[in-house]
Amino acid sequence: MEGYFDATDPEAGTLRLLFIGDIVGRPGRDLIKKGLPSLIERYDVDLVIANAENAAAGRGVTREIGDALLGCGVDVMTSGNHIWAQRETVDYIGAESRLLRPANFPAGVPGNGSYLARTEAGRPVGVINVMGRVFMQDLDDPFRRVLEEIEALRGRTRVIFVDFHAEATSEKVAMGWHLDGKVTAVIGTHTHVQSADDQILPGGTAYLTDAGMTGPHDGVIGVEKAAILDRFLRGMPVRMETASGNPRLNGVLIAADEATGRAKAIQRISISAVELERLDRQSAATRTRQ
Ligand SMILES: [Fe+2]
Ligand SMILES: [Fe+2]
Repeated sequence: MEGYFDATDPEAGTLRLLFIGDIVGRPGRDLIKKGLPSLIERYDVDLVIANAENAAAGRGVTREIGDALLGCGVDVMTSGNHIWAQRETVDYIGAESRLLRPANFPAGVPGNGSYLARTEAGRPVGVINVMGRVFMQDLDDPFRRVLEEIEALRGRTRVIFVDFHAEATSEKVAMGWHLDGKVTAVIGTHTHVQSADDQILPGGTAYLTDAGMTGPHDGVIGVEKAAILDRFLRGMPVRMETASGNPRLNGVLIAADEATGRAKAIQRISISAVELERLDRQSAATRTRQ
């Protein structure tokens, strides 16, 4: 069956957003480098948002890596609990407003939790990053904080995307209902396993509990499996290394009505490195034919 996003000619007044789930280490970055330009072309994407909290060897993001992701076609980077894992991020986030940290860190923490992006054609898209509190660090209330961020963006754009970085499915589902009709999309991150509940809620908000990760899928949520198994079997501390095999790019496509901010379509994507290479060859062939 042909999906909404297979139509190469987007309807007028529609914005197409691509969100990429947690980019993990070099395998994740390689998928972006190799596949993102052809994905943008294939799906006529207007704006790319990617969670970069695990981009640097599974923990945090450096300036070099962040700049490289932006250079590959990522427009805005969101993050989560690993945001401060690399020491240089404190300086980087102060200078690079396209890198977000969860908005519900206490006031005065470096960086911002939202950003007003512009597509190539100059159309505005608001991006907000918040983090859950169930089984996670006890930050400020994300449910109240997110409303303040929406309020601040509302006068400038109808299209608002929220990355809710959280552990508990219940907290994520609750956030979906909390923001239904208030934003274009609420997409979960952090668990690194893509959920199958993509839907448009009755108020017009696209929702997915977790976008999954962009990285190696033959480990345990991105980490080499032997060490993790050892930890479960023996309870001893282990050294965690990023896994390498079966790299997949996971994320979600969202079509937004620019005038109302309502979502028109949502579609999960999960693409292997081999499929991305095929897509890249196809778009190269199309380009030569034109
Ligand atoms: Fe993550
Ligand atoms: Fe996380």
